[in-house]
Amino acid sequence: MTCVDVDRAKVNALHRGDIPIFEPGLNLLVAKNVNAGRLRFATDPNEAVPQADLVFIAVGTPSRRGDGHADLRYIFAAAEQVAHAIDGYTVVVTKSTVPVGTGIRVRETIRAARPDADFDVVANPEFLREGAAIEDFMRPDRVVIGAESDRARERIRALYRPLALREVPMVMTDIVTAELIKYAANAFLATKVTFINEIADLCERAGSDVQDVAKGIGLDGRIGAKFLHPGPGYGGSCFPKDTSALVRSARQYGAPLRIVETVADINERRKRAMADRVIGALGGAVHGKSVAVLGLTFKPGTDDMRESPALAIVPALMGAGINVRVFDPQGQANAQAQFGIGPYYATDAYDAIDGTDCLALMTEWNEFRALQLDRVKRLMTRPVMVDMRNVYNPEEMRAAGFVYYGVGRGYDGIRLNMETAEE
Ligand code: UGA
Repeated sequence: MTCVDVDRAKVNALHRGDIPIFEPGLNLLVAKNVNAGRLRFATDPNEAVPQADLVFIAVGTPSRRGDGHADLRYIFAAAEQVAHAIDGYTVVVTKSTVPVGTGIRVRETIRAARPDADFDVVANPEFLREGAAIEDFMRPDRVVIGAESDRARERIRALYRPLALREVPMVMTDIVTAELIKYAANAFLATKVTFINEIADLCERAGSDVQDVAKGIGLDGRIGAKFLHPGPGYGGSCFPKDTSALVRSARQYGAPLRIVETVADINERRKRAMADRVIGALGGAVHGKSVAVLGLTFKPGTDDMRESPALAIVPALMGAGINVRVFDPQGQANAQAQFGIGPYYATDAYDAIDGTDCLALMTEWNEFRALQLDRVKRLMTRPVMVDMRNVYNPEEMRAAGFVYYGVGRGYDGIRLNMETAEE
């Protein structure tokens, strides 16, 4: 297999064995396959495409600035390049998350560039999560394949045979449906997270515990326990971008998705509102106060800060005149690129906490799950914790002498809302 990228620096790094992103286990997997001669890297498609049976297009489809549509220019540029390099029957697979109808346009692009080429286009969306990418790829819940000829179906089926042996369900469908499955899945998961976030807000006012509500509904097999963890709002390179692109496509087709539109709106507001929670926990007069933010990436197990709630929270705290001390196990470099010289970049969690008036736990990295609470308390001017991921147990925290605010956990929330309202 040959991986082709136009970014020479990236390819050079890969040749040296440097993986440009942090993804657990990926460096070992890449090294093993490079050493076995199974995996190569190149910048020129002509080094890989002519002899390939299948070509996967896996370029970025970022949100277009201004209108939220998926920016497809990299897809079509790649399709053109592939078209010129095809030799013999080739299956061109769209792996990137692309709006409904893109696969058909990729087919037209290749056909226009190379009317003589013998090829098929297949849509094969990816469902892996960052931080668990290898496990999710090896043991997916399902593989979705949108193919429109027997030849193409057979070839991609043969590729996935190792997973079929593990009895991974294969959903065989057409190209447009495969594209829609991908967006519908992400939109549904984003909706589930947003639903529990709103229930958490209600729990705070009603004096109940969202953790129990999530458990109580999640045990219903029709609902399912996953993606019911309340937090500071979803982020990452997928949910925000994909919900926004789906909303735009649906409108274009004259079938607006009002639930998804609302979800995206609630989530953006939620991220912004998180800074107010911290300000509320500080008791209002915040100028010159100091806050530690633990965890900056949109979730643990990645160095990715794209659309992370931290991008809303950290600037808002600094804007309120608060001295912000940040620490993330993998995201420090990306955070510096985002926040510049604004916050203090700590060397570890305790360095971040040192001398602060409030500790805001934003991303649930394992190393933040077992902080030495005595040490934390000694380091802080006042032991106040805003735990945006409900990592800690409220009773235990109170017993340890902390003023503790979780998410959707009864009376803590009520106090917090009242303090915020009084400002
Ligand atoms: C997501 C999907 O889960 C993958 O199936 C999909 O392949 C991927 O997008 C993609 O389209 O490429 P990912 O963005 O890596 O994967 O991360 P998730 O684990 O889904 O988390 C997304 C966000 O939701 C994070 O900010 C996370 O903290 C938040 N979240 C998730 C919650 O707040 N609560 C939950 O219960 C679950």
